[in-house]
Amino acid sequence: MSEQSAIQQYLKQCAALIESELVKSLPAAWDVPEQLAQSMFYSLEAGGKRLRPALILTAAEAVRGSKASYDASLPVACAVEYIHTYSLVHDDLPAMDDDDYRRGKLTNHKVFGEAMAILSGDALLTHAFYLVAQAAKNNGISAETALHIVEDLAKLAGAPGMVGGQAADMLGEQGITSIEELEYIHLHKTSDLIVFSVTAGGRIGGATERQLELLETYGRNIGLAFQIQDDILDLVGDEQKLGKKTNSDVEQNKVTYPFLIGLNESKAQVERLTQEAKSAVLEAGFEKPERLLDIADYLVQRDH
Ligand code: IPE
Ligand code: IPE
Ligand code: MG
Ligand code: MG
Ligand code: MG
Repeated sequence: MSEQSAIQQYLKQCAALIESELVKSLPAAWDVPEQLAQSMFYSLEAGGKRLRPALILTAAEAVRGSKASYDASLPVACAVEYIHTYSLVHDDLPAMDDDDYRRGKLTNHKVFGEAMAILSGDALLTHAFYLVAQAAKNNGISAETALHIVEDLAKLAGAPGMVGGQAADMLGEQGITSIEELEYIHLHKTSDLIVFSVTAGGRIGGATERQLELLETYGRNIGLAFQIQDDILDLVGDEQKLGKKTNSDVEQNKVTYPFLIGLNESKAQVERLTQEAKSAVLEAGFEKPERLLDIADYLVQRDH
């Protein structure tokens, strides 16, 4: 088996593990309006690469060197997928990117209406924090680790993080946004949740402060590379493979790396950022760095 397919295989296994957890992630005894629960699970179970939760499991394993950290990291892995899914549901709304397809299906608001899409996004976001608290209460992670994770998540998903990036994305316009402003958009709307994922995994695995810093560098670089690749695929990707429509950015007048620096230079940036990410992992002296390195390489080649 080639190295490329080994990492794809591994990511598939992680996705299956996450998906089996996601199904049981909302307490069955809760009295939730049927439409709201359906809308939440419509998007949660629509598939997707499950990259962010896989990064939590992988970073924990890289630091600790064993699979033992998987159980402890699973609830936090679900939490990040809840946040990511909420961000996609809201991102697709008519007031934002106005997209009709996501993960190969009609977008949430197309099926459940805008009000339910907004509310299921709100519910997904809120439940993420419940899941982290539960992980500590069930002794999966220590209360102190959970406290750090909640603080990081609130910051990196919030106003100075993902939401700030999404706001800047909405305010940015082709022709008037500088490369510095574009970098701000990408680092926050996309890198921050990836930084959260690898550092949360690192915390669960028992990383030192220095290792956490290097995980942050890894996350920032693969996150930026990931969003540049997303911009590239919006132009040259295959809708079938992506599960979403291409040319959405042009239609919405979005500033992207290909728009500002061209397709070839964007691809070169993806390569450069990936190398920087890998150097940080190599410097950290992890027990098992291989999968973090392989994921960085795999993301350069991705077509969806
Ligand atoms: C899409 O994220 C939004 C971006 C931040 C680029 P993904 O490409 O990870 O989407 P899914 O989860 O696989 O659907
Ligand atoms: C989305 O960026 C980033 C977040 C959802 C936080 P995009 O708007 O480029 O993502 P896609 O292309 O719709 O998946
Ligand atoms: Mg968007
Ligand atoms: Mg979008
Ligand atoms: Mg995009």
